[in-house]
Formats: sequence, C-alpha cells, structure tokens
Amino acid sequence: MSLIKAPEEIKKLHQGGELLSKTLREIRAACVAGVTSEELDAIARKRFAEAGATPSFLGYRISTQDPAYPGALCVSINEEVVHGLPIPARIIKEGDIVGLDIGVWYEGLATDMATTVIVGKVDQKVQGLVKDTRESLVRGISVIKAGKWVGDIGEAIEDYLAPKKYGIVKDLVGHGVGHAVHEEPQVPNYRDDRLPKVKLQTGMVLAIEPMVTLGDWRVRMKPDGWTIVTADKSLAAHFEVTIVVTEEGYDLITPWPDV
Ligand code: MF3
Ligand code: CO
Repeated sequence: MSLIKAPEEIKKLHQGGELLSKTLREIRAACVAGVTSEELDAIARKRFAEAGATPSFLGYRISTQDPAYPGALCVSINEEVVHGLPIPARIIKEGDIVGLDIGVWYEGLATDMATTVIVGKVDQKVQGLVKDTRESLVRGISVIKAGKWVGDIGEAIEDYLAPKKYGIVKDLVGHGVGHAVHEEPQVPNYRDDRLPKVKLQTGMVLAIEPMVTLGDWRVRMKPDGWTIVTADKSLAAHFEVTIVVTEEGYDLITPWPDV
C-alpha cells in the first residue's frame, strides 16, 4: 500500500489521534504512586471499546516467532526504554519515571504515541532527561516539510541531544504508520547514512519517537521477549507523536497529552 495517505484517510487518522491523545491524557493523570500497570492498561481498553476502536498493540507480533503483545498499553518503568508489559501487574512507585506508549486502530487506520510521566519527586538530572527527550521530539518534527529528507528529523534530534551527553537509543527507530502499526520508512533518531534516503512527501504519516538515556545508548531485551532495557541500567525516557507531512510543514495527528 502507498505510504501517502488520501485526504479521507487523513481525516480518520485525525479522529483516531484525538481519541488516542485523550486516552493517554487520562492515563497520564492516573499514573500516580500506588496504581498498577494493569489498571492503566484497563483504562486504554475501556476507552477504545467505548469509541468502537481497537488497541493496535494487543496481540501484535514484531515477527512471527515473537510472543504476541499482551496489552493495549506499554508501561516502561525507569531503566525500561520501551515495550514494558502491563501484565502481570506492577505497582508504580514514588520517584519512578514511566513511559506510556499506546496505539489504536480507528476506522481502519493506526496511530501511535507515547509520553513519559514523572511520578512524584525526582532529582534535577532525571527531570532534565524527561524534558530534553520531549524537546528533542519537538526539534525533530520542526524540520518536517514536503521536500525535506527523513534523515533531517534524526539529525535535528541528535543535534539537540548530543551536546547534552545523553545516550540516544539506536536499535529502535520511528516509523511510518497508518495502514499498519509499523510501516516504511524507518525514522532513526540519529544520523544514519546506511539507510536509503527517503524524501518527505505531502500525505506521509510518521510516528517519531526519540528514546533517550542518562547513560549509554546500548539496550537489551528482557527474557519476557518484549521489554527493552538499557544495557547499563541507566534511566530512559520516550516521547512519540504521529504527524502527517504537509506542503508547509506538518499537522499533528496525536495532540500532545501533557499541555
Ligand atoms: N510505539 C511502539 C513502537 O513503535 C509501539 C510498539 S507496539 C507493540 O515500537 F505492540 F510492540 F507494543
Ligand atoms: Co511507534
């Protein structure tokens, strides 16, 4: 299928994105000390069912050998970078930083977004990690416009983060989205000359998602077959939005849940 979405598809993507963002806003507010990851996941399932939408992560497999994803929400705590499982339930604690990643099928179209919540008090370095990860996403999307290169996004993200000495995760990248949970092109959060150069075109729909650490960029997978953690156990943050490329720039498909 085409990577360029038609105007009627973009309209539905906006509707799905609104639902997704509203749901993530509610989950963010519920993400306080004492709540369980399973309770947060239940909010997503309930709101999607009410809206006639389907969680896009539930049952998803990255490849056929992989286990099916068991929830509607990824809950990635502290050194977990992404794909933390909501089940079995874990209790969120004071001082945790919690990545919440969510995706939905609405009217046959997929959208994807994530945020990182600080639970209670954390030191300044950790606050900086979360704030700077979000800002790197803002910088990344700000260069988007028809005629630019996909690689320009990662360059902007890297240029913002590298002087601050963070680790930028390389094993996972942003991606096209809409007709599938993950589609072409890959959108790295760093300079990568190995990938084919792809030009941004009006109607392309992309999920941009920097994953940033307080230590090294290397990650490994937990034995559960899903959870990605930093290899050095340093804390990690993750933000993600879905956007559509336009002639003048981009439109946000998933409004920010935290403003
Ligand atoms: N935003 C995550 C990603 O693009 C969502 C993963 S879907 C899951 O990798 F099913 F793998 F959780
Ligand atoms: Co994604």
